[in-house]
Formats: sequence, C-alpha cells, structure tokens
Amino acid sequence: MRRQLVMGNWKMNGSRAANEQLVSTFLSLWQSVEGLEVAFAPPAVYLPQVAALLASSKVVLAAQDVSAHVDAGAFTGELSGAMLVDIGCQYAIVGHSERRAYHGESDQQVAAKALACLAIGLTPVICVGESLAQRESDETLAVIGSQLDAVLNVLEPAQLKNIVIAYEPVWAIGTGKTASPEQAQAVHHFIRARLGEQGAVVRLLYGGSVKASNAEELFAQADIDGALVGGAALHAEEFFQICQAAF
Ligand code: G3H
Repeated sequence: MRRQLVMGNWKMNGSRAANEQLVSTFLSLWQSVEGLEVAFAPPAVYLPQVAALLASSKVVLAAQDVSAHVDAGAFTGELSGAMLVDIGCQYAIVGHSERRAYHGESDQQVAAKALACLAIGLTPVICVGESLAQRESDETLAVIGSQLDAVLNVLEPAQLKNIVIAYEPVWAIGTGKTASPEQAQAVHHFIRARLGEQGAVVRLLYGGSVKASNAEELFAQADIDGALVGGAALHAEEFFQICQAAF
C-alpha cells in the first residue's frame, strides 16, 4: 500500500512573517492522518525557520534542490544532501522543470542529484514532464521515458522504493491548465510500468495547477499517489483542502 504524499513547493516565495502565518494557519486546520504525508518545501534560506515551526507537527520538510556533490568542498552556493538532512529535511525535489529550464539541468545531472540524495538518506522527488510542443507532437511518452531512463540507469532496483516521482507537464505548471485526470493517469500508468517490478511501491505525484477544485478527481486515479503543489500551496486554506482531498 502506497502512502499518499502532498508536497507544497513554495518556489521563490515567502518571508519570515508570511511563512509563520502560512504554517500556523495550516497547522490550526490540519489533523494528521495515517494514510497521508504532508510536506513543505520552502526556499532553502527558510528551511531552519520552517523546521522549527513544524517541530510539534507531523508535517515534514523538503528542499527544493540539492547538490549533486556528496562530499563537502569548494562548491560555492551549493547545499549538500548532508546539510539538508542536518537541518531536518526528509525530501529534496530534483529536476524540477524550472531548474531544467532556467539552470540548464540535464537528465544526467538530475540522475546524479537523485543518487546524492539516496547516498545520505534523503528521498528524492524526481520531476519529469513534457512541454506543450512535445505533447502536441505526440512525444510525451518518449520524453518522459528518456527522462526516467536517465535516472533508472544509475539506480539499483532496490533503491526504487526510496524515490518519489513527480509527473509535471510543463504546460500545466503555473498556467491554470491542469492535465485532465485521464491524461495524468495515462502518463502515471506508463511511468509505473516503466519502473518494472518495483513500480508497485513507488509513489507517483502529479503536479501542474493542482487546486482544491481539481484535487479530488486527480487523486481518484489509480496511479496518482498525491501531488506536488505550487501556487495553491501558498494559501493555507486551499492547501488544507487539497490535503483533505487526498484521503
Ligand atoms: O512544483 C510544483 C509545480 O511546479 C506546480 O506548480 O501548482 O503552481 O502549477 P503550480
């Protein structure tokens, strides 16, 4: 049985005051439940603050990125997996389409980051997704397949149970256009099949304009195990409603 996961990716948003308001409002609404894990991924500079705000809750902490370098050293601006674990992170998002698009991250770098996470006991949330042009030219499954293969080629089959995959169609991120439940399910089904025997235990999240109004129908799909939520995660009440829709 796969435990559902709803992760709020705050991206480059927040301030000490806004974070405190968001977390305290969410925690005043949220009662943790066995079948669902909730995570917040604030900007790195706020991880210690949010760790403290979450200390008495079961909501867990995630980083938005991680260095591919495992050992400490001369890597200006980088944050190692060990540092993220040290301040309380359980997850790190890797290969988000915004990192791929604005920072030129390749499939190979994404795979290296996933490996770096696993080396230190962080769970990587590995993002894959096609652009609108790729979908329109019927390349969706080929693109997702090659993004996935880059990671699967470097992992041992036994490591798959320690990863999460997020399918985020680029055309649905921050645009208000959500993949239909059927479109999302079709890609999730493809990803699960590609994972082989271990696929049954890997959690697959959907991301891309998830809102309170569409969460339930997305979560109702057989291969959707939760969500990676951007914009709606900045609103405590709406994020709470999305979490409620997940169980
Ligand atoms: O990481 C989250 C995704 O990029 C989705 O963002 O919910 O604002 O579309 P969004």
